[in-house]
Parts: sequence; C-alpha cells; structure tokens
Amino acid sequence: MMEPITSSQQAIELENNYGAHNYHPLPVVLSRGEGVFMWDVEGKKYYDFLSSYSAVNQGHCHPRILQTLIDQAGTLTLTSRAFHNDVLGPFEKFLTEYFGFDKVLPMNTGAEGVETAIKIARKWGYEKKGIPENKGTIIVAKNNFHGRTTTVISFSNDETARKNFGPYTPGFITIPHDDIDALKEILNSSKNIIGYLVEPIQGEAGVYVPKEGYLKEVAATCKEHGVLFIADEIQTGIARTGKLLACDHENVKPDMLILGKAISGGFYPVSAVLADDHIMEVIQPGQHGSTFGGNPLGAKVAMTALNVVKDEKLAENADKLGKLFRERMQKLVDKSDLVKLVRGKGLLNAVVINDTEDSDTAWKLCLALKENGLLAKPTHGNIIRFAPPLVINEEQLHDCCDIIEKTISNFQK
Ligand SMILES: Cc1ncc(COP(=O)(O)O)c(C=O)c1O
Repeated sequence: MMEPITSSQQAIELENNYGAHNYHPLPVVLSRGEGVFMWDVEGKKYYDFLSSYSAVNQGHCHPRILQTLIDQAGTLTLTSRAFHNDVLGPFEKFLTEYFGFDKVLPMNTGAEGVETAIKIARKWGYEKKGIPENKGTIIVAKNNFHGRTTTVISFSNDETARKNFGPYTPGFITIPHDDIDALKEILNSSKNIIGYLVEPIQGEAGVYVPKEGYLKEVAATCKEHGVLFIADEIQTGIARTGKLLACDHENVKPDMLILGKAISGGFYPVSAVLADDHIMEVIQPGQHGSTFGGNPLGAKVAMTALNVVKDEKLAENADKLGKLFRERMQKLVDKSDLVKLVRGKGLLNAVVINDTEDSDTAWKLCLALKENGLLAKPTHGNIIRFAPPLVINEEQLHDCCDIIEKTISNFQK
C-alpha cells in the first residue's frame, strides 16, 4: 500500500530518503492540476508557469485527452512492434500529414527522439552521402540542451550534465548558436559533415531567440552544402512559440524534425522523428526501435492532443498573449532594478535578473513567486523561464503579470 501523504513536508522527506537526488525542485508538492492551475497537498492554488518544461501546452488534465486515454487504456495499450496494431498506421498517417513529412519514426522520450535522429542522420551520411564509415560529424550549437543520454551529453558544454559521465561519444563539433558565419565556415573548411542539429530557440539555455532570418539561412546553407538541417523542436514545437513550430516563423522546413513533450499533452511520453523518404528509407528492420515506441495508447493520446492544439487555436493564443506578456514585463524591466531584460517568442519567455550568473536571486524570487501563487523555475543562473500552458486566457495572464510585478516590487535580496 502507498503511504498516504498528508503534508508537503512528509512527501519531500520521502523523496529525499528514497529517491536519487538528480533534481533540485522548488519546495512545493503538487497533488492536482486543471488547465493553467495546480494545487499543492495543503490545497493552495497556483498558476503553472512552467508547463512541465512545455509538455503541458494543452493545460493540465485536458478533458478530451483524458477521455481518449481512458478509452484506449481499456481497449489496447501495448502490442510491441512484433505485431501490427490498428492505431499505429492511422497515427503515422495523421502525424505525417499534420507536419508535412513523408514518414515518421515514433519513440517515447525527447532524448530518445534525439538519439533516433542522430542514428538516422549518421546512416544517411554513410549510405546516401558516401561519407567513409565512422568519419561522419554532426554540428551542434554551444549551450545546447537535447536531453540526458550518454551520446547527447557528449556534445553538451554544461559541466554539470557532463562531468564524470565519460568516455564521450565522438563525432560532434560545436559552433556558437545564432552565428551563420560560423556554420558557413565549418561547412567550407570540414569534410564529412552529416548535418546541423539545433534548437530553433535555445530553451534550457535561457530562451535565446536567434536573429530574424537565422533559421532561413541555416536551411539554405545546409541545402547548399548537402547536409541535413535537423531541428529539435521538442520544447519549441506544438504551438509554444506562437506557431505550430518555431521553424514556421521563417517558413522553413527542416530535413529532420524532432518532437516530444506537448505532442501528447503531458499524459504519456510520446516523441517522434519526422523526415522525407529519401532520409527515412535508410532505416530497415532490426536497426532501431523501442518496446513502447508507437504503442496504441500513446498514439491515440497524441492524436487527440494535436487536435486540441488546432481546435483551440493554441498557437494563435500563444502568439497574442506572448506579446502581451512581454509588453507587461518590459514595463517592469523599465522601472525595476531587479530585472534587466525580457525575451522570448509566443509563450516561451525568460526574464533575466540583474545579478551575477552564479547568484541565487532567481531562485529566491521563484520562492517568493510560489508564496504569491505562481510556479516558475530558474533555467541557467539568473534567468527565469515563464512558460504557462497555452490555454491561459487574457484575464489570467494579466493576473499572473500582476503577481510577478508585485513579487518583484516587494522583493528584498
Ligand atoms: C530541446 C530539447 N530537446 C530534448 C529534450 C529532452 O527531452 P526529455 O526530457 O523528454 O528526454 C528537452 C527537454 O527539456 C529539450 O528541451
């Protein structure tokens, strides 16, 4: 029997005593969620301004997605890919049409999606481009975040994520983000490049939005050099930035698209790699897979979650309310010494605190925001990411801006 939880303190102690200490959560214990709200064990209500790192774009416990989950959970959950099931094919057709690619390879978590994209890209490099075996290189951006697996952390430059997890996977080369000249230079001076793996907006790093036109130039440069433009839209995708994909802001289509998180509205881990046939056809039976990847439960949940995004016009809402949010935050930046900058796109935004990068001011401010009923978390150093569920309405958004404003005005270091 599960030990009944009667206080936040008790739940935190259990985690401390029995769980690996691989996270440093804000001291709040949540027990219920609905739309943009979450409640803690003591019944206190909060606005969610993280959305589980942009996985809950459709809002907590969305009733339509919930109903799909319940229906499919009582019908068929998992067959493995040893057999066909009657949901996978319709799901693959749905997803490829929804995002405009020939084929999809479904997986579960974001990091697995990235691993999958790397494997497909490497195979394409050797078999289609004729790169000598084991000589292929993938370009990545400095300060990237693509997940936590051994290969993925091999090309991270975050010491906390990397240290003592070596030896690292070779075959990656790092260039600065948002620097088209650096990309051109490396492509002109190096042999055996397979592609460029990049987040269109760097989320974890602190919501760094590249200059307008960067993604268009990346796509054109990759095309010119015959290398793959691989977009990791796990955090930026599914309406978060005010368009279905962040790449849509510049009307570019990457050669490979990696999705996860909000593709299933926070109910079930589903990720996917999308590409056209000339790339995806390099993968043959036995070369890649996962027991749960493409299972009927996740597939059904993802289809409803994606229908909700369109039916409820979440991209349009993120675009409109994102502008409003940045306007309100800019006013705050103009009048407060504590915050120095707001940046972002749609409802993926960050406020930079006016303090040193290693200060704990952002953390303390998040504690104060929590007391005032809003949950957010610092990303790196002195940056706070603000990313509410995209179902938030204008009145709620103003309410949240009031909370942030009040908290910052009253904050004592
Ligand atoms: C851009 C990006 N890629 C990959 C991942 C990893 O996803 P997951 O945590 O589901 O493995 C994340 C998670 O934050 C992400 O933001």
